[in-house]
Amino acid sequence: MYDFKIAAADTATMYRDLESALRGLIAGESDPIANMANAAALIFETLPDVNWVGFYRNIDGGLVLGPFQGRPACIRIKFGEGVCGVAAQTLQVQRVEDVHAFPGHIACDSASNSEIVVPLIRGGELLGVLDIDSPKSARFTEEDEAGCVRLGEILSKAL
Ligand code: SME
Repeated sequence: MYDFKIAAADTATMYRDLESALRGLIAGESDPIANMANAAALIFETLPDVNWVGFYRNIDGGLVLGPFQGRPACIRIKFGEGVCGVAAQTLQVQRVEDVHAFPGHIACDSASNSEIVVPLIRGGELLGVLDIDSPKSARFTEEDEAGCVRLGEILSKAL
């Protein structure tokens, strides 16, 4: 059993604790599905105000649903479609304050109001994306973005 109790006083400390817990969880494990599954559970348990945390994998030039926590979600997303597809196509983080204002946003859970998607890249190749949704508008700050990018860097080495 892993029992990470991350109750940090501030966001910077929380992401530092999250990073070190993530490194611990994936240490010595090379199976990408296992690592994505534990990462989704850890992030979902730790970040306040999130309703979906998970992965889409780059398979044959499209995104396919991977391990996640939250409600069942759409399975396949084309590059360029929705927030995840734009992140995959541009290789840029998408931090969306209001998903309802994002052209082509794919609503998997009607409770979601804001979202951050981090492309996972290794050696210039897109492995997939990390997608985090929140019921709160503008939930994700620049500090969250920096923290999620660091989580993505750790994950990219383990997928
Ligand atoms: N909202 C995403 C789709 C995935 S779900 O949020 C889990 C999008 O627009 O790409």
